[in-house]
Amino acid sequence: MIDALPTPLPHNPLETLANWLDEATRRAVQPNPNAMSVATVDADGTPSIRVVLLKALVADPGYVVFYTNYRSRKGRAIEANPEVACCLHWDALGLQVRLEGVALPSPAEESDAYFASRDAASQLGAWGSDQSQPLASREALIAQTLARGRELGLPDTTTLADVQPPEGALPRPPHWGGYRVWARAVELWVDGAARIHDRARWERSLARDTQGQPHPGVWRAQRLQP
Ligand SMILES: Cc1cc2nc3c(=O)[nH]c(=O)nc-3n(C[C@H](O)[C@H](O)[C@H](O)COP(=O)(O)O)c2cc1C
Repeated sequence: MIDALPTPLPHNPLETLANWLDEATRRAVQPNPNAMSVATVDADGTPSIRVVLLKALVADPGYVVFYTNYRSRKGRAIEANPEVACCLHWDALGLQVRLEGVALPSPAEESDAYFASRDAASQLGAWGSDQSQPLASREALIAQTLARGRELGLPDTTTLADVQPPEGALPRPPHWGGYRVWARAVELWVDGAARIHDRARWERSLARDTQGQPHPGVWRAQRLQP
């Protein structure tokens, strides 16, 4: 069990996040150890939050990746305002990670590669759902998904269970892909006895060049009162 952050504090908090994620995965502490809440702000200033799966972590230069529908509520919010906040919590390990930064669409080739690695049913699901849009009934969603499968050249079936797209049959929908969340601030929190938790916050600059690409500065760490 981790009972405190090291002293001196680690240079790169995302390396610690990677270690904690490995530990949570190895010990199978929960069905989705990579579950991450992502908060966005809509164009009118309304905040919203939902769980996604953290699918990749690159500690240096420092971003995490999740996949979604770019036209979903979160996708539209990020288009209007790329500032997001993320949170991971492993209750069984007594650990929390908070991350703040900007979400930028992943390079198309990276999203293509991830989409190609998914099972065929999940690939069809990405085509079938206009995520966050109103839906008349579950039957309507299934019919819509099967119809899109037929449009993409899949055999005609009446149930989703019968759909078995051949490997590599479906391309990635253009409105579906990854976001890289570039960290500007990270907070690590370790549960402590008598509520004397251990907590520290790392911050760095995140300049963007003329193409919008981030150029992170050096991490600076500070312990915080819990
Ligand atoms: C454990 C768990 C994992 C999820 N993973 C994802 C994910 O990786 N991507 C995604 O788009 N939605 C995922 N969802 C669904 C989202 O929480 C959310 O319902 C959906 O993305 C629509 O959100 P939005 O309307 O705010 O855009 C997951 C939900 C749960 C409970």
